[in-house]
Amino acid sequence: MPTFGHAMRSEWLLDPDVTYLNHGTVGATPRRVLSHQRAITDEIERQPARFMLRELADEHGTMTTPPRLRVAADAVAEFVGVAGEDLMFVDNITTGANAILRSFPFDQGDEIAVTNLGYGGVVNAARYMTRRIEGTLRTIELPQPGASRDSYVEAIATGLGEHTRVLIIDHLTPGSAMILPLAEITAVCHERGVLVLADGAHVPGNIAVDIDSFGVDWYVANLHKWAHAPRGCGILWAAPERQSMLHFPVVSWGRDRGFRDEFEHTPTTDPTSYLAAPEGIAMLREWGFDVCAAYMHGLAWEAAAMLTDRWGTTFEIPRHMVGTMVTVPLPGEAGATEADAEQVRLELLLEDRIEVPLFAWSGRLWARVSAQIYNDRADIDRLAGAVMRRIAAAPERSITTA
Ligand SMILES: Cc1ncc(COP(=O)(O)O)c(C=O)c1O
Repeated sequence: MPTFGHAMRSEWLLDPDVTYLNHGTVGATPRRVLSHQRAITDEIERQPARFMLRELADEHGTMTTPPRLRVAADAVAEFVGVAGEDLMFVDNITTGANAILRSFPFDQGDEIAVTNLGYGGVVNAARYMTRRIEGTLRTIELPQPGASRDSYVEAIATGLGEHTRVLIIDHLTPGSAMILPLAEITAVCHERGVLVLADGAHVPGNIAVDIDSFGVDWYVANLHKWAHAPRGCGILWAAPERQSMLHFPVVSWGRDRGFRDEFEHTPTTDPTSYLAAPEGIAMLREWGFDVCAAYMHGLAWEAAAMLTDRWGTTFEIPRHMVGTMVTVPLPGEAGATEADAEQVRLELLLEDRIEVPLFAWSGRLWARVSAQIYNDRADIDRLAGAVMRRIAAAPERSITTA
């Protein structure tokens, strides 16, 4: 079993002078996966036309070897508990969500429901669609962090409207970093005839996931955050009965030729992040996915305790809703506005060399701390101390932000 914590930093290219507590935002690709991706690039460049036009997707069925995209999709599908034929690669969640929303046969006046905790880029895509169909965007208010799991299901059940056709729900909320009860939420939506698009941006590689078990209609996720794929590697899974309506958001050769062609006969892009995704999963398996997840979750949970203890604040989210990230309130003296958050974030980065996302919410500042296997207690301790030193050095900040 590998020794987690700082000893693992050598597996990444991360700047050794920076305490990196922001894995969740855009991921960080391990060296081995990057080398694998480079090897694929070299392979492509030996015979680019053959690779891109034939080996990649084999659209004319002339190859004797299986299409490379399908081989990669099968490996990823096994990791997330689905059949490879139901899973397509996309560059990111936003592309996957746009494909679904722009393809869905909405009627004029239909409603798309999102939540107040949803990811802004995807909420914007939903807003755009409701404008196009002269429909409504319904924003369901979810309970504050710390509420019970059931209360999130209840909030969705009571928040749906008569004309809601689709709910977009984050499996793991981006700001508050809470795992929501996706299967239960899906069940109440389906009882009301509402289809469910789940955004699992932070999920694969963070918690064990079996997409089939949630019963959702579509699941979009990133592999470049926690599953160690190169950046620009997302997946779109669609239940078999939802596939025939789907179109890639940029019209190209695959248009109207079925699910697979829609997403594989797209304009020319670099497929290497998709093809290298299985290498990230292979690494996770070699390290032991369960032990990695247990270490990351344990450190995240410990971080919540250490930070709230040092900062005199509280962490309310129940442990079963926590994965590998915790969002912890800073002391009130740290500030309350987005401008304060940006100032403290920059000070932490430039003066203390700590990379951590900070934001203002509900009248105070919060830090979302990611715990990857290269982090350890010393990183958390450094963050705790740095925030307290800033407050001691600038007590007037709390006054300037009233
Ligand atoms: C819930 C959620 N959805 C989507 C994204 C990212 O979207 P994209 O992959 O399109 O950049 C994030 C990124 O942090 C996220 O937290």
